[in-house]
Amino acid sequence: MRTQPDFLARHVGKLISSSQRIAALTGAGISTKAGIPDFRGPRGLYVTRQYDPDKVFDIDYFLSDPRPFFQFARDFIGLEETLTPTHTHRFLAKLEAMGKLEGIVTQNIDSLHHKAGSKQVYEMHGSFWQSFCRDCRQEFSYPLMCKKLLAEEIPRCSCGGVIKPDVVFFGENVKFLPESYALAETADLLFVIGTSCVVYPAALLPTLTKGQVVVVNLDKVKISTHNPILEIQGDIDEFFEQVEAYMVC
Ligand code: OAD
Repeated sequence: MRTQPDFLARHVGKLISSSQRIAALTGAGISTKAGIPDFRGPRGLYVTRQYDPDKVFDIDYFLSDPRPFFQFARDFIGLEETLTPTHTHRFLAKLEAMGKLEGIVTQNIDSLHHKAGSKQVYEMHGSFWQSFCRDCRQEFSYPLMCKKLLAEEIPRCSCGGVIKPDVVFFGENVKFLPESYALAETADLLFVIGTSCVVYPAALLPTLTKGQVVVVNLDKVKISTHNPILEIQGDIDEFFEQVEAYMVC
């Protein structure tokens, strides 16, 4: 369904008011306004190749040469402290505090949902908050891993094993799959925000829900579901700022 954005914002405001169990699936597009490039958008990593995603987020490549990932990780932790959540991160946190939103499944590793105050966040692709030795499984806290990243080209445990932040690479299992499926299945309204919906299993969530699906994304997103989809093709923050304004009225 495509029509005037203003009408859509008003309509989505009403949908939120009449829903009891809202869920959200978020992707890199929700964080571009916070200063983190996405993957497949016009200035995404697959376009700019600033960090080669085929080398940086692939477990086989990491096992053969972890240096491209650690270069990315070093830059990311430098950026991390300066990052602040966007309007939409904060809006979703507000919906949860109001008792409307049950939880968020995110593919992002930037922890911005937590920073915004959201509590029930399933980080399907992990995060930087914990790191583990690949050999002995010793855990390393975020501050300790930051120190090691700055001091060592390839951070290593005292046992000699390479330490890997707990982010999910291609070739590894995602996290919180049962919880994420359950959240989507029981939602009466599912927001799909800032994701191209091409990476599975996250892309399956809109097909599992029985609720209304609302997609907010710059580019058209192809989702195969029998449910009617309300599609908003535009900027995420601009749209949810409008939605929030209508909810106040
Ligand atoms: P993508 O980069 O594939 O999709 C992000 C979408 O957000 C694109 O369609 C953009 O056009 C859109 N977008 C960007 N900024 C926006 C804005 N301000 N307003 C509206 N839309 C905007 O990112 P994901 O779908 O999250 O996995 O990518 C999924 C996974 O692929 C990632 O988690 C990562 C990647 O490879 C791993 O590394 C394992």
